[in-house]
Amino acid sequence: MKRIAVLTSGGDAPGMNAAIRSVVRTGVANDMEVYGVKGGYEGLINGIFVPLGTRDVGGILQRGGTILGSARCPEFKTEAGQLKALRQLNGAGIEGLIVIGGNGSQTGNCALHKLGFPVAGVASTIDNDLIGSDTTIGVDTALNIALEAIDRLKTTASSHQRAFLIEVMGRNCGYLALMAAIAGGAEYVVLPEVETDPENIAKTLNSAYERGKSHAIIVVAEGAKYNANALDAYFTEHRERLGFDLRVTIIGHVQRGGTPSAVDRILGSRLGAGAVQELVKGNYGVLVGVIKGDIAVTPLEDVVGHPKALDMSYFDLARLLD
Ligand code: ADP
Ligand code: F6P
Repeated sequence: MKRIAVLTSGGDAPGMNAAIRSVVRTGVANDMEVYGVKGGYEGLINGIFVPLGTRDVGGILQRGGTILGSARCPEFKTEAGQLKALRQLNGAGIEGLIVIGGNGSQTGNCALHKLGFPVAGVASTIDNDLIGSDTTIGVDTALNIALEAIDRLKTTASSHQRAFLIEVMGRNCGYLALMAAIAGGAEYVVLPEVETDPENIAKTLNSAYERGKSHAIIVVAEGAKYNANALDAYFTEHRERLGFDLRVTIIGHVQRGGTPSAVDRILGSRLGAGAVQELVKGNYGVLVGVIKGDIAVTPLEDVVGHPKALDMSYFDLARLLD
């Protein structure tokens, strides 16, 4: 394989640039020409390829986001869109593609694989919802940003004896919320994976105050049925009866931005190199991730459409320590 391309797709994640840099430099070390695709699958459909050499990816390791740009591209979900992309790849003489992205992006990647194009995937999303990788690029940074927000909220919460509700990202997966709750010492965590009764939250918070706590933090996953807005509405409606003052913070995209942590830079570097090595070996149609600390290679067919289960022992731990 002499010419490969790399793209980033879906929600950007801190550490994607480390993965791009690693793909380019590992590709060049294997005598390949490497092209970057601008703007995810949208750019692929439109054939926007730029040659990338080792110097083009200098100074990007510490930058959040992705230098290639990303996109949500509905057209690529159609077979017509995928065939257009395939024509662009073949027309540019590209023999292999590396897709750095999350669940949706790897579903698209799997579609290209099924059309016979040699691909590899790099597990990258702050949501940590991909089978085939214990953790994914961006999770560590996003978690630390959520944690900083919780730590800051705790100081103001204790000054006023208030309850603070903080909503974190994660789409339909409660991983970030659960880990933020444990690391941030939250009094309650609301997850998509667990049915929640707002009355139970109120009881837990009241008992926390009775036990002498000066603050209460509730971490909420954005994908939960009772997300921040729903809980805010519930507690406002029943404020007199439930009897506490609630403040809501939705950290949203702040969580996805900024400088990648050391963990995400190293993970991006390892997975990018790993993906090139799979193409070199001729092992196509796989996701490159990390399992129990080692690089793991899983067929894309076993990854997409298989939801990753949250390890509920962490939920038990969060409840034990609240
Ligand atoms: P992420 O990769 O972060 O989960 P998305 O779910 O938005 O983000 O997916 C990114 C892109 O991947 C989509 O905009 C689309 O172009 C492509 N994609 C998502 N789902 C599919 C699918 N079922 N088939 C083909 N392509 C898909
Ligand atoms: O998949 C990453 C993610 O940040 C999710 O946590 C979130 O639900 C979604 O992307 C937000 O998407 P957008 O940036 O398109 O608003």
